[in-house]
Amino acid sequence: MNNLMKKKNNQESSSPSSDSCLSKYKKVYDLSLENPEAFWAERAETLVSWARKWDEVLQGDFNRREVSWFSGGRLNVSSNCLDRHLEKGCRNQAALIWQGENDDEVKVYTYQMLLTETCRFANVLKDKGIKKGDCVSIYLPMIPELVIAMLACARIGAVHSVIFCGFSSTALKNRIKDCGSKVFVTADTVARGGRIIPLKPNADGPLDECQSIRNCIVVRRSEKEISMVPGRDSWWHEEMAREGIGRYCEPVEMDAGDTLFMLYTSGSTGKPKGVLHSCGGYLTYVLHTCRTVFHFSENDIHWCTADIGWITGHSYSVYGPLGAGATILIYEGLPLYPEPDRYWRIVEKFGVTVLYTAPAAIRALMHFGAGLAGRYDLSSLRFLGSVGEPINPGEWNWYFKEIGHSKLPVIDTWWQTETGGIMLAPLVHPELCGPGGCSRPLPGIDAAVFTESGRETVPGESGRLVIRKPWPGMLKAVLGDGGRVQKMYFSSYPGVYDTGDSARRSGENVFQITGRLDDVIIISGHRLGTAEIESVLTAHRSVAEAAVVGIADSLKGQKIYAFVTVGKNVEQTPGLLGELRQYVQETIGPIATHSTIQYVSALPKTRSGKIMRRLLRKIASNDFHHFGDISTLADPSVITDLIEGKKRSS
Ligand code: PRX
Repeated sequence: MNNLMKKKNNQESSSPSSDSCLSKYKKVYDLSLENPEAFWAERAETLVSWARKWDEVLQGDFNRREVSWFSGGRLNVSSNCLDRHLEKGCRNQAALIWQGENDDEVKVYTYQMLLTETCRFANVLKDKGIKKGDCVSIYLPMIPELVIAMLACARIGAVHSVIFCGFSSTALKNRIKDCGSKVFVTADTVARGGRIIPLKPNADGPLDECQSIRNCIVVRRSEKEISMVPGRDSWWHEEMAREGIGRYCEPVEMDAGDTLFMLYTSGSTGKPKGVLHSCGGYLTYVLHTCRTVFHFSENDIHWCTADIGWITGHSYSVYGPLGAGATILIYEGLPLYPEPDRYWRIVEKFGVTVLYTAPAAIRALMHFGAGLAGRYDLSSLRFLGSVGEPINPGEWNWYFKEIGHSKLPVIDTWWQTETGGIMLAPLVHPELCGPGGCSRPLPGIDAAVFTESGRETVPGESGRLVIRKPWPGMLKAVLGDGGRVQKMYFSSYPGVYDTGDSARRSGENVFQITGRLDDVIIISGHRLGTAEIESVLTAHRSVAEAAVVGIADSLKGQKIYAFVTVGKNVEQTPGLLGELRQYVQETIGPIATHSTIQYVSALPKTRSGKIMRRLLRKIASNDFHHFGDISTLADPSVITDLIEGKKRSS
């Protein structure tokens, strides 16, 4: 057992340094909850540059659910990420390093260059008539133009909605249509594992159906021919060339509560929802987490491997590290391409200091690339982080030993799209870290675990992870709300934010997250709603009803398992199953590969017509016993059919 683990087992009675670290944390934490407004005012003052100071730190509370942060305050997020570093003399410091999928494709942007490009694209958007409050949808691979487009929107007060490139047609259409965006930014193609895959063609169908889109700006990534709609579509490089490089774009002063961006995420019901984050609260919170968890300095080369199409990329590839003045690294390709040593090659090549990745990537690297990391000099690393799903002890230990050389503990961070930034992390002392269960709430975060009846759990008892006090990074709203924020986050317990995750808490306020409690599947760290997949399946002409659950997968964490009933006169052939699998993949995107689909004659429904999903989850996972209370099932005989079908399909 390594020293770190021994210390962990001895927990809080360890070395004086860890003791003093723990007591310092407790002191700051307690103070932050005793007087949250003073705490957050100090954070906002220290970490953010304001054009006008706020009048009130916090208005409202969770009981009224009308919460707004730093009202009266004015700022611009792009100028916090760019201009203010130039003013401090960092104009020639690298802001962004881009590694293309080909090893020899590298671009470096200094802070000055990133500002220049941001201003240029901001001016392009302005020329297209984009103003404060307008929405711009961005569907780009991991290339510098993605960061430039986001910062350009932030500069002129446009709201960006970045859509992950692993989504296609239907998923894409849903994500463009309801936000009414006026400009769509994409690329002709995307590089994936040595192949050039069309990207804009995925969007052509949805764009034709989305009347609000007036312009589509396309980055050229390859020589492939694609179709361009005259008058609507134009090339990024031509627009930028027309703009020249001289014209500075004045940052628009935004109210703290104005929307910075929206990001679609999946809930347990219905279509994905557009979560809105505000300028002042979000930036303050993300910078607070950068300071508290990552301890960024200007010398850091920060590599967050998440795609920017997810919240992790927004907060820790773009706004957090750039706001903190660090250097960000963006990698276009796959972790295992061309060889499973690619990550370590990149760490050595650029001297990465902070690596923030996901258990899914760690599993793939362990599986395919064991022993390869030792060939590289990883001594530049000072921080190893993990996010997106629980990291199991095997993964934690591999990351710690092989990459951290048993010196760098793995910092497992828990948070959500809705929280804006990291909420729980092992903050106290590296020596108190170990696999699982060492996460503490960040200062300012009043986390607790509640039973279903709303009682706070006793140490060790499982329950729902909740947050009892507002924090600045929390979602501002959900697009077109219609009561959804209330229903999704505040209906379990009055005046308390329900995360939807299950957790346990020790007597020392150490949290362990055990998984989702709702119908959300996390595939390779990416969140997908079962409802979205079900609506795709039922849109197929042969399918009558569908119910989707997640099952464990050794590489991706979870994968899709669907039960379908087919329409009258439709034959249950293996060919149709293949077609449905293909259809799910094509309409949702490559994220939805390797699904399993099973025919059933009927879905198990309660007498009130609700699908009994916990039963389906058990059957999909080959657990044919322990079904719990099934007395509300309308027709218990469906169980036999479900089990037999499962056995046949295994
Ligand atoms: O279930 C939790 C899981 O990911 C969910 C949030 O997904 P998303 O909004 O896409 O954001 C992902 C990145 C922040 C959570 O409700 N999750 C995230 N981090 C962890 C985690 N589960 C366990 N351990 C984590 N460290």
